[in-house]
Amino acid sequence: MIRNKNILDLSEYEAEIELKILAKELKDADKDYHELNDPKISDAEYDRLKVRNKEIEDLFPHLKLINSPSDQIGSTVSNAFAKVVHEVKMMSLSNAFSEDDIVSFDERLKKYLNMSGSQNLEYTAEPKIDGLSLSIRYEDGRLVLASTRGDGSVGENVTENAKTIAEIPHTLMNAPKLLEVRGEVYIGHKDFNDLNARQVSAGAKVFANPRNAAAGSLRQLDPLITKKRPLRFFAYSWGSISEQFASSQYSAISKLAEFGFSTNPLTETFQKVEDLIKYYEKIEKQRASLDYDIDGIVYKVNNLETQRRLGFRTTTPRWAIAHKFAAEKAWTQILSIEIQIGRTGALSPVARLLPVTVGGVVVSNATLHNEDYISGFDNVGKPIRDGKDIRIGDWVQIYRAGDVIPKISNVDHSKREEKSERFEFPTVCPECGSAALREVGDAVRRCSGGLICPAQAIERLKHFVSRKALDIEGLGAKQIEMFFNDLDLSIREPADIFTIQERDETNPVKLKDRLGWGEKSAANLFEAINSKKEIDFAVLLFSLGIRHVGETAAKLLAAHYLTWNNFITSMERVRNSKTDELEKLLSIDGVGNVMVHSLVEAFSPGPQRTSIERLVKQLSIKDFPVHEVSDSPIANKIIVFTGKLERMSRDEAKVSAEQLGAKVAGSVSSNTDLVVAGPGAGSKAKKATELGVEIINEDDWLSLVEKR
Ligand code: IVH
Repeated sequence: MIRNKNILDLSEYEAEIELKILAKELKDADKDYHELNDPKISDAEYDRLKVRNKEIEDLFPHLKLINSPSDQIGSTVSNAFAKVVHEVKMMSLSNAFSEDDIVSFDERLKKYLNMSGSQNLEYTAEPKIDGLSLSIRYEDGRLVLASTRGDGSVGENVTENAKTIAEIPHTLMNAPKLLEVRGEVYIGHKDFNDLNARQVSAGAKVFANPRNAAAGSLRQLDPLITKKRPLRFFAYSWGSISEQFASSQYSAISKLAEFGFSTNPLTETFQKVEDLIKYYEKIEKQRASLDYDIDGIVYKVNNLETQRRLGFRTTTPRWAIAHKFAAEKAWTQILSIEIQIGRTGALSPVARLLPVTVGGVVVSNATLHNEDYISGFDNVGKPIRDGKDIRIGDWVQIYRAGDVIPKISNVDHSKREEKSERFEFPTVCPECGSAALREVGDAVRRCSGGLICPAQAIERLKHFVSRKALDIEGLGAKQIEMFFNDLDLSIREPADIFTIQERDETNPVKLKDRLGWGEKSAANLFEAINSKKEIDFAVLLFSLGIRHVGETAAKLLAAHYLTWNNFITSMERVRNSKTDELEKLLSIDGVGNVMVHSLVEAFSPGPQRTSIERLVKQLSIKDFPVHEVSDSPIANKIIVFTGKLERMSRDEAKVSAEQLGAKVAGSVSSNTDLVVAGPGAGSKAKKATELGVEIINEDDWLSLVEKR
């Protein structure tokens, strides 16, 4: 790779490319560190990149970029803004990419609502603005708080900055006593170009695209700077409200306009999917002539009562969807292929690219997914990209889909050099040398080293301390990398985190006396670690990073077993082939054979189990909180739905049961408390009768739950 070359040997062309790559890598690292609090490279590696960048610039001063990393003084630090907990979560939208996706969306909703296919659901359709969302809280008509989305649950307080945006009123007339207006902050095209021209003449940073400019401007520490930025705001939604102010999405938006907000004039309502698609095509044609960036169309169910019935999944409403425009594409060359090792040992190939701008963003790497993807044939010999393989040096067409790592859509073999060779996918782990194996039917090759593999061990530790897992303040990915290789105070597995203070005491040089540490920072770290010794069962289970046991599965298992001890006892029984125990586990809706296999593997004697046991010794695990749903007749009952329900869909029934504190299982066992059976109920009802489980019909069910 070019970057390992001695700087004095670089050609001018190579230097130019490398400066661009370095700028991108340093920028990403800044973002990971300052904004996302999730550094992916060590401090030392960061410094090395920065030094190399400077050395190349010194040798080729005319190639120095306008926004060179050498001139940056770090980016806006998010801890500078106070955190705000959103009373009503700020949701994101699920995405659709084709007409078929929209047809299924409409069908899915109708099914959920128990509507017939010939009945129409009414939707609003409006452009999806490519900016950043903002929630603005008004109490008694006065703006009291404005916050960014953050992770959806906790955002940043940007009140003073938001107040400088002309399109955001400071007071509202005739609005509900409490109203949180939500919408998108953006910068128009013309304003963006003027802003960048001003930045150039002031020798300041040039923004890559209007979205970045809007985000950077809103999150300024000095509101006077924000005031100078041409930020605009479209209102399209709301959070907490003291009273309903409309009965439909469309009329609610008209109300927001009456209260003094800008709303998108292109919003319309439609009854038929064909009309939604026509609207999508119409707006896509207008896209280039609009003065702001849009990346798709948002469809929302118009009736607010229907929205309420449909409700939310974990992070997205069921009643809305974003129909994305096709991603922009660009051709570029593969400079090298690197293999990264993930938490579960997967070998993930990444193409390092000649940097290229796609949709306003410089892209320098793309995912190559797995071995088959590179070879052009899947594991049953079916061609991928008509069987075209991918090699280092190939010209590839790439596209960005959302904020995820770019993907490859095509490869041009006509530009391939004769001497190019097929890419040999490693069969040993490049990090630890263990065999890298593929299971039958799996496209992914995995390192078999388990916790022996430092890459896997590090990734698992990073997962263990990540935000949704232990979330230890001051112990992020960057610190994990540092402690992992520390000779005196190493963290090689999760249990080590909790013994760190004790081990520090016996070291000749204490953490507080080390470079970069002090009395306070060391004490804070120990305190943050100690505060996490008491941990929720579900959080612990998720933190372990067991394959196929994500956040939802961990909650599901915890809700089922209630205590860690129950769970471990059950795992032991499942492992010893106790069929009743296995049946119980498989009867949990959402648990299948694949997850069970993975759980059994994790809890079988071996390094992973030993590591879990060592960890558990350090912790005090809180039982899963039993849902207190006042007066709910079905709280904590295990319910199975079977047969056809006529007044609601299975999904709606399931959600309402769970809201009332019940657990819904997929099959009947001796643990089942109640079976709701509709016409056509077969083996499950039969089994319930055999086991003496109570069986009721849909009407009984409705009167039971409506009694709440
Ligand atoms: S509605 C509960 N409408 O897209 C529904 N979102 O990918 C909340 N966005 O976080 C979103 N234009 O920042 C909605 N017309 C629009 C939008 C829009 C842009 C953004 C918003 C959201 C993201 C989800």
